[in-house]
Amino acid sequence: MIKPHGSDELNPLFVYNTEKRHALVAEAESLPSLLLNSAAAANAVMLGGGYFNPLTGYMNKADAMSVADSLHTTSGLFWPVPVVNLTRESGVEAGSRIALRDPNVEGNPVLAVMDVEAVEEVSDDEIRSMAEKIFRTLDENHPGVATFTDLGNTLLSGPIQVLNFSYFQTDFPDTFRTAVEIRNEIKEHGWDKVVAFQTRNPMHRAHEELCRMAMEDLGTDGILIHMLLGKLKPGDIPADVRDASIRKMVEVYFPPNTVMVTGYGFDMLYAGPREAVLHAVFRQNCGCSHLIVGRDHAGVGDYYGGFDAQTIFDEEVPAGALELEIYRADHTAYSKKLDKVVMMKDAPDHSKEDFVLLSGTAVREMLGRGEAPPPEFSRPEVAKILSDYYQSLDS
Ligand code: ADX
Repeated sequence: MIKPHGSDELNPLFVYNTEKRHALVAEAESLPSLLLNSAAAANAVMLGGGYFNPLTGYMNKADAMSVADSLHTTSGLFWPVPVVNLTRESGVEAGSRIALRDPNVEGNPVLAVMDVEAVEEVSDDEIRSMAEKIFRTLDENHPGVATFTDLGNTLLSGPIQVLNFSYFQTDFPDTFRTAVEIRNEIKEHGWDKVVAFQTRNPMHRAHEELCRMAMEDLGTDGILIHMLLGKLKPGDIPADVRDASIRKMVEVYFPPNTVMVTGYGFDMLYAGPREAVLHAVFRQNCGCSHLIVGRDHAGVGDYYGGFDAQTIFDEEVPAGALELEIYRADHTAYSKKLDKVVMMKDAPDHSKEDFVLLSGTAVREMLGRGEAPPPEFSRPEVAKILSDYYQSLDS
């Protein structure tokens, strides 16, 4: 199986030893507390599950700036997006041990224990400089920029020990998986070549067919459908509805034992190309040999070119930095002429009108009116789950 990123073995930061974990939970009650923001909490969950291997905690300022600037930490580790604990709280001291509390679970239980190695101030200019590198824009209307520039100016760095997986394990027991669990399941299946499909949407026919094409073109043993379970921008479809529609699609349209439907606990960054590279890093940590990167991967609005998330792998990922390879998908849609879903590059004689192309907004509006998207766009079983959800919003 493919090696994790940056080490031979995966080193999740969750404390698997039950006795040690209970001792830490008890100790945490007497430690000074910090209430995390959702971004820092999501980083802790990813670190806990081994997704962010080989990081051992939150980055310090020099590493965060270096990663934003050049996709490498100061010690030369390839890493695409700063993994930080930025806060508005002052009063935390370097050298202290603190309990990190979860903002997303009632009662704010302790999510992790942190040994604070450094407390550094990051100026607004430095935050903006990082944001511009990560998101390629400073437009406050970009949801990722708005979140990142509003986290605070105090950066706490140091190793963490993770005590639970926030709300992900309780809310999505069948779907949330750590990278450790995914590696183990891939091993149990006896798969070697595995392609991952990142998604934050319900899967329509183009998504479904992309998965099928990638599996066939690459000759994989299986596919990991890996959905984001964390926070999204308003208007995006909630995780439980996406989960239900994806599971239904897999059940009806894929052969058994070829698909793993799973999810990870992270908030969407909407960082387009940089997030695509982060996706590649953590899918390698899950044991996947390939990741599908299609049109406007992890994008939002018109901030990124349709295929910027593919070209970054040629332009900014040095040879050998990753073992995982990407599967480049062209814009994919249903062809009325050929009566099937195709990649546009494979239908050079087609004009736009020969495809069934619907924007996300058009689909949402249709569902909102109680209409199902056409079967060329969505499987009827998927359309039903989505329209039930949209109808429930009105009642
Ligand atoms: S993402 O933010 O998680 O990337 P989404 O769930 O819509 O969004 O997309 C999942 C993956 O499918 C991404 O790799 C994206 O580029 C790809 N994709 C989605 N729709 C299409 C399409 N019509 N043509 C080509 N690729 C697509």
